[in-house]
Amino acid sequence: MHKTLIILTVFIFNALSISPALANSMPLLAPKALFHPVISDSGMVVSQDMLASQVGAEILARGGNAVDAAVATGFALAVTLPRAGNLGGGGFMMVYLAESKKTIAIDYRELAPAEAFKDMFLDAEGDVDNTKARFSIFSSGVPGTVAGLVQAQQNYGKLSLKQVMQPAINLARNGFQISPDMADSLRSRQERLQKHAATKKYFYKNNGSAYQHRDVLVQKDLAKTLTRIQTTAGADFYSGKTAELIVKQMQRSGGLISMQDLANYKVVERAPLCGEFRQHKICAMPPPSSGGVHLLQMLNILEGWNLTLLGHNSAAYIHRLVESMRRAYADRSLYLGDPDFFPVPVTQLTDKRYAKTLRDNIDLTAASRSADIQPGLSDSERPISSIAQPVESTETTHFSTWDRWGNVVSNTYTLNFSYGSGIAVDGAGFLLNNEMDDFSSKPGFPNGYGLIGGIANGIHPNKRPLSSMTPTIMFNADGEPVLATGTPGGSTIITIVMQIILNLLEFDMGIAEATAASRVHHQWLPDNIYYEPGLSTDSKALLQKMGHIINDSSGRLGATQSIYKAFDGRLHGAPDSRRQGAGAVAQESRQ
Ligand code: DON
Repeated sequence: MHKTLIILTVFIFNALSISPALANSMPLLAPKALFHPVISDSGMVVSQDMLASQVGAEILARGGNAVDAAVATGFALAVTLPRAGNLGGGGFMMVYLAESKKTIAIDYRELAPAEAFKDMFLDAEGDVDNTKARFSIFSSGVPGTVAGLVQAQQNYGKLSLKQVMQPAINLARNGFQISPDMADSLRSRQERLQKHAATKKYFYKNNGSAYQHRDVLVQKDLAKTLTRIQTTAGADFYSGKTAELIVKQMQRSGGLISMQDLANYKVVERAPLCGEFRQHKICAMPPPSSGGVHLLQMLNILEGWNLTLLGHNSAAYIHRLVESMRRAYADRSLYLGDPDFFPVPVTQLTDKRYAKTLRDNIDLTAASRSADIQPGLSDSERPISSIAQPVESTETTHFSTWDRWGNVVSNTYTLNFSYGSGIAVDGAGFLLNNEMDDFSSKPGFPNGYGLIGGIANGIHPNKRPLSSMTPTIMFNADGEPVLATGTPGGSTIITIVMQIILNLLEFDMGIAEATAASRVHHQWLPDNIYYEPGLSTDSKALLQKMGHIINDSSGRLGATQSIYKAFDGRLHGAPDSRRQGAGAVAQESRQ
């Protein structure tokens, strides 16, 4: 909501102590906004796929809470968005429970199989074999999605698992019309995906040709798998027929995931990582995601400047963003990994005093070189020395749900790349992830997102690969949740979520405008500013003059799916128009 309106509203509400009649007489939309959200006075679901959002909204209308809606949406996306929605991947779910005012971070990230080992992706010369790490039977971690969604529903949902899973089963069994986006996506990956017999069978026509827009995709094996999950509360996936099908698929080409690995999979409910940015509290995912740590670290650095005065996407503003990002991602490379295996210095990295030392080192007139920036923290604060390792050198999806009682879910889950490893489980109808590439296969060697890592994120049996996924819930000064957001985008996820927050808080944008605004990204290495169309030529020229390197070939950054609670208490849903097919669906109001 725009500042003038906010100030006016605060004044009126304070003077008259909020009356519903008054709230109803306020304009619903910001009069000068170029982009508008979907508005709801009950519940809301926003996801990358309109059909899945409709499923979630229908569950809300039937009395389900935000967790029921999220789980229903998650299973529906596993059917309607096979490039990222999944049963064979993993993710993170942030849940805010209104009654207890508690926020929970549910970690259902994949695990390395027990037989995984440190150098498993190195070839005879000691170089990383990227094909083995990304597109082979060895690329998959033990999937966590089914355990995560089922556990969330059983612990925090109101309806039955049967009710929330039925819409996904119906979509798989009866089919749905292919969207333009899905038709393009399957066509463009035809060569890679058709290498695998089961994948070809499930996602292409009998004659091998690609589905067209409006063709109907029926997924009978997937419907059966979902039904088995529904009737066994997930047990089938980890120790029943589905588990056997996964292991059979492994054995066909020597893969490592065993029945024991599946039986051992555990979801972890973690304390969320929360910090303050000016008047707001921001809660995001702790390790094994790097998202929460670096979101807070960058916001801590940026808090020391008046960003509003600099102007949105001015060169001076982007310079400060980029220098903060550069330093955060340098730290990520050394200190971040699965906290069960490495002592991640979370407190030190998110300390405001540490942010001040980083900020004080930023020259406001000239770019620093990434080669000159090394991971920070003083000797006594660091769990590892940078000398210990040599330094050298995309599909996920987010959805947000909010119910009429004020419960909120912010969920990001993934197969890693589009369609993961590209290998579907024959007989089970779903794709396996290639999350093992999120580990650092070799210190200093970049993964699929150009991210560098080392010992902290090395491969180890039963370890979770480091993630950048950043499902986030933000709270106002009164402790009320006001935002659920998140995005795909690999390494760019953290900086995108941060820009949504800054657009709302520093630049007075509504959530639809905050979503549409052009984004920038920097990740230390490579030393490049990535930017989207719409960034002004003047800003670019000024940044170059300051010594920044600007990558002209970058495309779109992410696809956020956000819900914002406006000042009048209504929910504003903002799907991201960067990728076709996303949808915000209000529980019952007319759009
Ligand atoms: O967990 C991670 O950070 C990555 N596997 C996410 C991958 C991703 O976002 C791809 N989407 N465009």
